[in-house]
Amino acid sequence: MQQTLLLLPGDGIGPEVIAEARRVAEIVAPDLKVEDGLVGGASIDMHGDPLTEETLDRARRASAVLLGAVGGPKWVGAARDKRPEAGLLALRKGLDVFANLRPAYCFPALVEASSLKQSVVEGLDLMIVRELTGGVYFGQPRGIDETAGIRRGYDTAVYTHPEIERVAHVAFEIARGRQGRVCSVEKSNVMESGLFWRQEVTLAHAEMGAGVDLSHMYADACAMELVRAPKQFDVILADNLFGDILSDEAAMLTGSIGMLPSASLGTPGTPGLYEPVHGSAPDIAGQGIANPCAAILSLEMALRWSLGREKAADILFAAVGKALDQGARTRDLGGNLSTREMADAVIAAL
Ligand code: IPM
Ligand code: MG
Repeated sequence: MQQTLLLLPGDGIGPEVIAEARRVAEIVAPDLKVEDGLVGGASIDMHGDPLTEETLDRARRASAVLLGAVGGPKWVGAARDKRPEAGLLALRKGLDVFANLRPAYCFPALVEASSLKQSVVEGLDLMIVRELTGGVYFGQPRGIDETAGIRRGYDTAVYTHPEIERVAHVAFEIARGRQGRVCSVEKSNVMESGLFWRQEVTLAHAEMGAGVDLSHMYADACAMELVRAPKQFDVILADNLFGDILSDEAAMLTGSIGMLPSASLGTPGTPGLYEPVHGSAPDIAGQGIANPCAAILSLEMALRWSLGREKAADILFAAVGKALDQGARTRDLGGNLSTREMADAVIAAL
């Protein structure tokens, strides 16, 4: 069956890094049908909507979706549903990709790029599994209004049993393919939804957690432990908001957020959404200096998790490591290669 990869470059450095991922895709998976679409600010400018029904339909019919980044100063003042980020959230929700996998892997060549001591990050290999379609990101009610003459802003942190159960199962499954340890994080000491999260993860573990060692940690303590002794973690399971924060923190352990890919998975057989963890980086957009590795490694995750091409994924992952070993570095890594030259180095290593 013909497999389709839908590219949604988005805004800022998105188009620059996705262009390089496309070149790599043409080499590692030449039979793949590659399509393009608009999302975020690029879609707002063209259609007045950060994600059109048509684009969402095409995403649903693709084998995998590779997205660059969304957002930028141009759209900051717009109403919430007309902001680029709303397109990304609608895409995640529309594809029902509830499990977001964010690996923090320290390439041997980059141990010195981290702001932490080499001994702390050397050999680091952890995976954050972030719940992606629920929690405070989507909970109702939410708003800014006025009651009894006092203005207020509020969101709702809410999780249901099925939402927690399904993402916990993914975390257990991933852990079984690694060191078999899951650390679930929440704030059960202050939040009802956090207490519920802990109870539900514990239940899910009793039912489906065979072979997995489950522990629990408060999210603030986890933030601290991530910089104190990150190698204690194998898989971290977190809700949408804590997972967002902890994955940015984990990214910096590896030297640069410009290196980190992510995979967002729904139920088996549905298309996964792949995106760099970094944002649209408007400050360096258009200069051709962004690190394309996160986008290239997001393609690697798509090959592995949606396209059933593990061999190609292994080869691509090794090629990125080899390019780094040979000294290839963009600016964020302390070098001076352009986006294109960095991709050239990966392609040469391939
Ligand atoms: C991320 C980003 C997004 C999020 C933004 C851009 C909506 O920070 O993917 O981590 O908060 O989920
Ligand atoms: Mg984030």
